[in-house]
Order: sequence, then structure tokens, then C-alpha cells
Amino acid sequence: MFLFSTKADLQAYLKPLRDANKAIGLVPTMGAIHNGHLSLMAQSLNENDCTVVSIFVNPTQFNNADDLAKYPRTLERDIETISSLSEQIVVFAPSVEEIYGDNAVAQSFDFDGLENEMEGASRPGHFDGVGTIVSKLFELVLPTKAYFGEKDFQQLLIIKKLVEKKHIPVTIVGVPIFRGEDGLAMSSRNERISNDGLHKATFLYEVLKQAKTLFATESIEKVQQFVDSEFKNNSNFELEYFTIASEETLKPVIQKTEGQKYRGFLVAHIEGIRLIDNLSFN
Ligand code: PAF
Repeated sequence: MFLFSTKADLQAYLKPLRDANKAIGLVPTMGAIHNGHLSLMAQSLNENDCTVVSIFVNPTQFNNADDLAKYPRTLERDIETISSLSEQIVVFAPSVEEIYGDNAVAQSFDFDGLENEMEGASRPGHFDGVGTIVSKLFELVLPTKAYFGEKDFQQLLIIKKLVEKKHIPVTIVGVPIFRGEDGLAMSSRNERISNDGLHKATFLYEVLKQAKTLFATESIEKVQQFVDSEFKNNSNFELEYFTIASEETLKPVIQKTEGQKYRGFLVAHIEGIRLIDNLSFN
């Protein structure tokens, strides 16, 4: 495995590959590598000559200082995990100064309104931070393809929008959510939940699946009422939001329309940890 912490070293490594027209895959992460990340890397390894994995807890996308401070940082273990998948992967793990100098602030982006829905409304400035770091990584790595998980479905759409609006020559690949056997979506935040809590958290996927079944025959209002009452009856969780939205605009759906694609989006808290999940409702 190759490990770089400076932009100059990473670029010196990548330049000959680029000159030889090799396909470079980029998997941006914030570390605490889990099987979900590994599935993105496996796909990149299959589709490219070289795979770069960035590990960087990006301060500008956190709107909560406590959340940033508590975000898991497990670089040594991450490197071992990545090496066990492939020795060929290039890991880029820079410091905050290396990326931002002494000015860790986000640029402002217009993602045609995608940034105002759900996570954008709940976490002001979050997508400006994501847009800032992802643009910087694209400029640095110049990847052929870049891989993002569908767990952060809104992020995936926003990055597609970024690339379209800024004419960045990269193909964005969305990778389906990687779930444990019990259905729990893999997340770096799961690290901070007790085993008991993790067991209970399978409830989120169960509710989403039942909501999907109801959605086939019932009104949006009925589905919403069902989800609200499930959470009212489960004292382990606090529901932040449940929204059924169009997969294209992410606008909440008021009435179902033939031929439209819908998705259910859920954010809930357990043991003070914020968990996010979603499911296609078609
Ligand atoms: O999804 C994440 O882990 C982050 O938002 C990303 C894309 C690596 C940007 O920091």
C-alpha cells in the first residue's frame, strides 16, 4: 500500500500514471473504514488502473464542533483494513493545514436547490463544506471516476450536480448501501454506538421497509403517520425527520405521480448519535 500525506507527494506519484492515460479511481472518505467503504474501493479496483482513497475528516462540513471533535479517527487501523483488501491502493491522508492552510473555510455553492432539502436544512453549511473538499480532491487527483455511497444519497446527487455545473471531467459512481446481515446501514458513526444500541438500530431499516410496503397502497400522509407512531412507541430513538422525496429533486412528495422515482429518507438519534438511512420506494 502507498501512503501519502502531502499533495506534492501524491501528485508526483500520480503524474506518470496520468501521462500514460491510466484510469484513476477516487474514493473520498473521512476514515473509520468499514465494509461500506471497502465495497466502494472494490468497485474502483475493478474499474480503474489505480485507486486513490482519501482519508480526511473535513472540518468545513461539520456544523457542530462536538460532532467534529468526536468523529472517529482511526488511521492506523484504517490502513491495515485497506491493505487487507489490496496492497495496490494509494491512501492520501493529509492534515487540515495541508488541505486548507490556515484558512479552513468553505466556499459557497449553488446546487440548484438540492442543498436546501433534508440534510441541508438540518445541517446549515454542510454541503458547502462537502462541495469545497470534494472540489479540492478532484483538482488534486483528477480522477477518471469517483465513488460515493448511496447512504448519503443527497450528497451523491449534490456531487453529480457539482460536476455538471463546474464541467469537471469525472464520472460519478453511486454505490448501493452496504448493510449488515441485520439490515443496519454501515456508517463510521456506528463506532460510537454500544452493541446493544447497534442491535436496536436495525429498527431503522425495518421501519423503512414497512413504510415502503405501505407506500405502494396508502397515501403519503398515512405512511408518515405510521413512521411517526413507530418512533413514538420506541423510546430508544428520537426521530429527526422522515421524508418521502423525489429521487431527482429531493423535494418532499405531496402526491404520487406515475413514472416518478421516490425514496424514503430517515434520520434518527440513538445514544446521542445521529444515524441516517434511506430506501428506494419504487
Ligand atoms: O461521505 C463522506 O464521508 C464525506 O462527506 C466526503 C464525501 C468524504 C467528503 O468529506
